[in-house]
Amino acid sequence: MTLYGVGLGPGDADLVTVRGKRVLNDADVVYSPGRLSRSVATEHVPEERIGDLDFPMTRDEDELRRAWKAAAAEIAPRARDGDAAFVTLGDPNVYSTFGHLRRTLAAFHPEVDLEVVPGVSAVTAFATALGVEVAAGERLALREAARGAAPVGPDRLILFKVTDAPATHEGLTEAGYDVVYGRRLFMEQGETVVTDDPSEIDDRDYYTLAYAEKRGAGATPATAAFDTEDASKAAESDAEPTAKTDGGSAASGLGETERAEGEAGGDDPRAGDGVRR
Ligand SMILES: C[S@@+](CC[C@H](N)C(=O)[O-])C[C@H]1O[C@@H](n2cnc3c(N)ncnc32)[C@H](O)[C@@H]1O
Repeated sequence: MTLYGVGLGPGDADLVTVRGKRVLNDADVVYSPGRLSRSVATEHVPEERIGDLDFPMTRDEDELRRAWKAAAAEIAPRARDGDAAFVTLGDPNVYSTFGHLRRTLAAFHPEVDLEVVPGVSAVTAFATALGVEVAAGERLALREAARGAAPVGPDRLILFKVTDAPATHEGLTEAGYDVVYGRRLFMEQGETVVTDDPSEIDDRDYYTLAYAEKRGAGATPATAAFDTEDASKAAESDAEPTAKTDGGSAASGLGETERAEGEAGGDDPRAGDGVRR
C-alpha cells in the first residue's frame, strides 16, 4: 500500500485540495509533525485516526536522525499494511519536514510506496493575501530571513522565516526594497496581519513571511496603460444598449480573450507560540 505526503495548504481547513481531502478520508492513519498541521488535519479526520509521532525540540543532527528513524519505523508498517498519510502545512516539497521522512524511508524502508499530494504553498498564497500580482515575465526568488537576515538579489523576493522583522526591514530598505509582511495568512489559529510596518510584528512568530520588491521594479503590463478617454467612451457605450447583432464576432470575443491570456503568458514542529490575538 502507500504513504501519502499530503499538503494541507497555508492553514485554513477549506484550502485543502479536493485530492488531499479524499486521501485523508481514505487513509487508515494520518500522521502530523506539529500542532498546527494537526489542528488542520483534525478538521477532516477524526482524532482516533490521527497517529502520534514524537519530535524533539533540537537542532542536534544525531538526535534529529534518531527521531526521524523512529518516526519512519512507526509509519512504515502502517503504510505497508494499509494506506497512511503524513500531512504538512503548505506543500510537502517546499521547505518541509516531509523531505526528512522521504529520505529516512528510502534508507531504511525502501519497500514503502510514496505518493505526494501537492498543497497550496505560502509561496503562492502570499500573492493573494498581500494583494501582489506577479506578472508574466517577472522574476521572483524564495529565500529565508531567519534571525533578522535580509538577503537581497533579484527584484522580487519572498522571504520565509521572518523572525526579526525590524532587523530584516532595515537591511532590505537600505538595499532599496519596499517590503510587505504577512503573518498567519489564511490561518484559523492566531491573528492574520498584513503590514508594511515591521514594528507591528516585532514579536517573533515563525509563521511570518515578507514580500520585498525593488523600488522601481514595478512592471507595466499592457492593461496598465489604458487611454482613460477611450475607457470613458467604452463605459458610455456599455451604458447604451446598442446591441451588436453579428453573433459571430461575439463568439470570437471569448476566443480572443483566451488567446490574449495565452500570449501574455514544518511545518515546524516547534512552532505554535507567540501568536498575536
Ligand atoms: C518551513 S516553511 C514551510 C513552507 C510550507 N511547506 C509551504 O509550502 O508553504 C515555514 C515558513 O513558511 C512561511 N509560511 C508558511 N505558512 C504561512 C502562512 N500561513 N502565513 C505566513 N507565512 C507562512 C513562514 O515564513 C514560515 O516561517
